[in-house]
Amino acid sequence: MRTQLYIDGSFGPADNGATFETIDPATENVFSEVASGGASDVDRAVLAARRAFDSGIWSNLPALERASILRRIAKGITDNLELLSRLETRDNGKPLPEAQWDIEDAAYCFEFYAKMIEGDAKADSQAIDVGDIRFDSRIWQEPVGVVAAITPWNFPMLMAVWKLAPALAAGCTIVLKPSELCSMTCYELARIVDTAGLPKGVFNLVTGLGPTAGAALTAHRLVDKIAFTGSVATGGKVMQAASAGIRTVSLELGGKSPFIVFDDCQIDKAVEWIMFGIFWNKGEVCSATSRVLVHHRIYQKLIARLKKETERISIGVGDQEGVKLGPIVAKVQYDKIMGILERAKNSGASLVTGGGRPTGFDSGFFIAPSIFSDVPRDAEIWTEEIFGPVVCLNSFETEAEAIEMANDSPFGLAAAVMSDDLDRCDRVAAKLRAGVVWINCSQPTFTQAPWGGYKSSGIGRELGRAGYEAYLETKQVTRFDHTEDWGWYQAPGPSK
Ligand code: NAI
Ligand code: MG
Repeated sequence: MRTQLYIDGSFGPADNGATFETIDPATENVFSEVASGGASDVDRAVLAARRAFDSGIWSNLPALERASILRRIAKGITDNLELLSRLETRDNGKPLPEAQWDIEDAAYCFEFYAKMIEGDAKADSQAIDVGDIRFDSRIWQEPVGVVAAITPWNFPMLMAVWKLAPALAAGCTIVLKPSELCSMTCYELARIVDTAGLPKGVFNLVTGLGPTAGAALTAHRLVDKIAFTGSVATGGKVMQAASAGIRTVSLELGGKSPFIVFDDCQIDKAVEWIMFGIFWNKGEVCSATSRVLVHHRIYQKLIARLKKETERISIGVGDQEGVKLGPIVAKVQYDKIMGILERAKNSGASLVTGGGRPTGFDSGFFIAPSIFSDVPRDAEIWTEEIFGPVVCLNSFETEAEAIEMANDSPFGLAAAVMSDDLDRCDRVAAKLRAGVVWINCSQPTFTQAPWGGYKSSGIGRELGRAGYEAYLETKQVTRFDHTEDWGWYQAPGPSK
């Protein structure tokens, strides 16, 4: 198979014909060639998006008409659920049921934002009281313009849709650059969008490498806003590029999220959520609760249960029945995690289980679900995002100590707390410096609820109403009642 770029309503190869390979991480086999866009392709795509935006062909369309096209895209995704889920599993390695969640969520995200603009159709102008009756002041919300969306490989289609659906709902036009490690479902999404009736140039896809296509897109001065999900290092580069021309960014970056487990919880439930919090999607999750803090009274008991359950996880190729843990997305990530695991063995932490390749796998980028306990607080595995199925545990004695350890990180994306005392849960949640706090669970994510991080985990929010407002500019329109005199340059006196 060979994919193409999608620019100004047509599919075609990159200007220089370049491609790169995409790999099935379970077999290490190449299964597709992906068009590798360069600076000239990015330029064509941004110009198409700019023309489409400036013409008003999309932003001036009544909201109800925009909503109906979003609903057609949602239906296109749902109609292709099986194909898209299997493709996501093949490209990323995740278990098929998890890929199905992603694709269903992607379809729902389009429906959610369609519904939001249907509801707002009458309410796009809001009066404000400026304290002077001679003035009539209103707020208008308008689309921000041309959006560059740059997305990662862990939820390849869903992270693109979290940006596309609200941006299109708001009336923006878009150039999407998915991750070079997993571009396939975004290509299929372009085929779906192509049949949904969007005017040409409103949505454009440029697959390509980060330092070439990605960098050219963030540098392009006709882009009004950059929406990025990925690493902190690349997020910093995106922000720097956006500073030329003072353009808006929203950044969803990494995390090292804590999970505080008190001794009054039900241990079986804690074990279940700890496992889901780090082994779901192979731990390739920005909000993974990778640092677990357990009250010392239940620490040893919990470790024993966690070890037993973790060793029962079924590892394998994502589309095999019952598999709960697939291969790491690509060799580069596999090598990175294996390096971290090797160094961890000399870090002073105790290895409870895992720590390398699972037995019985000759090929594929498989890593066993791994647990370390008594991890020194300055160890790399405790401080750095691993983005793999590796969890670190420590014990605490007091609530204050747990909160202090939880917040002792440059990241602040998510946090979780488990206790049967709900007052305590709220008290702790209030003190955790994170954009998402889960009580008695970890990871459930809702299209309706805002998503994003404190501290180095990012800027801005996706999903919910906040995720829509991120694609709007606010305009103040103020009218003076011209039957009144202003009188600044005309000295008061007898009228002529
Ligand atoms: P990355 O942040 O480099 O890649 C994310 C996106 O940025 C991709 O589309 C990539 O092509 C693009 N990109 C790369 N360099 C760019 C540049 N100079 N200008 C513009 N765009 C650029 O992430 P990578 O290298 O794939 O993964 C490395 C680490 O990042 C992971 O181990 C993990 O810790 C973290 N990560 C976090 C994610 C999250 O959801 N917060 C998602 C993916 C990775
Ligand atoms: Mg792949």
